[in-house]
Amino acid sequence: MARRKKIYEGKAKILYEGPEPGTIVQYFKDDATAFNAEKKAVIEGKGVLNNRLSEFFMTGLAQIGVPNHFIKRLNMREQLVRSAEIVPLEIIVRNYAAGTMSKRLGLEEGTQLPRPIVEYCYKDDSLGDPLVTEEHIAAFGWASQQDMDDILSLALRVNDFLSGVMMAVGIRLVDFKIEVGRVYDGDFQRLIVADEISPDSCRLWDIETGQKLDKDVFRRDLGSLTDAYTEVAQRLGVMPRKATPVSKPTLIN
Ligand code: C5P
Repeated sequence: MARRKKIYEGKAKILYEGPEPGTIVQYFKDDATAFNAEKKAVIEGKGVLNNRLSEFFMTGLAQIGVPNHFIKRLNMREQLVRSAEIVPLEIIVRNYAAGTMSKRLGLEEGTQLPRPIVEYCYKDDSLGDPLVTEEHIAAFGWASQQDMDDILSLALRVNDFLSGVMMAVGIRLVDFKIEVGRVYDGDFQRLIVADEISPDSCRLWDIETGQKLDKDVFRRDLGSLTDAYTEVAQRLGVMPRKATPVSKPTLIN
């Protein structure tokens, strides 16, 4: 079999040319990075979990009419996605203060925000993905006003969907990041959700205990990342729970 053409290798994924024009194979690596790749590790099984979880979220989003790049899962670590021209923005939606927002504004982590707040960061690792305003985005031509309206609507719909899905399994969606890409249908251009949606790009806290079930477990050395992601996958029914050991039958005299 001919070797596939690698298009791009990022911190957590590799993109290969897909079998049909306009498709891409997205391979989920086990690599975990934090703080702009200053902290690195290989976490066995992370890629498999994120492949399954991203499939689950993207499929659910498609079912409620939120357009996204997912076509089908190919195997444990790979999915076929629609190729899209990625808008160079990281779109962050926050329901509760945490992470950089808590630091920047001196808000205690977990403070409920008056409404979901959408932030934009310019996607550039060498600059550490700086926070930018809509003024920067318009002035530098990263996205048009129409794009920004569409991006806001996509981000808020993803937030409503994910918040509900998570709440149903006892998990609080604190914040998350999405990326969007442009696709062309004939003369028409539209934006779709791309990249991935997984515990790598969300903050997920157990509603009862506050236990972190996302990449902060790795960033802050809070235990096993695989256990945390497995817990999310099991609660969502994406991975089966381990069968509880059945005790041996005993003879009744
Ligand atoms: O670090 P910060 O608090 O700004 O992150 C907000 C949310 O966006 C978190 O859920 C984090 O996992 C996600 N994020 C991401 N990729 C980045 C930056 C943030 O997935 N490069």
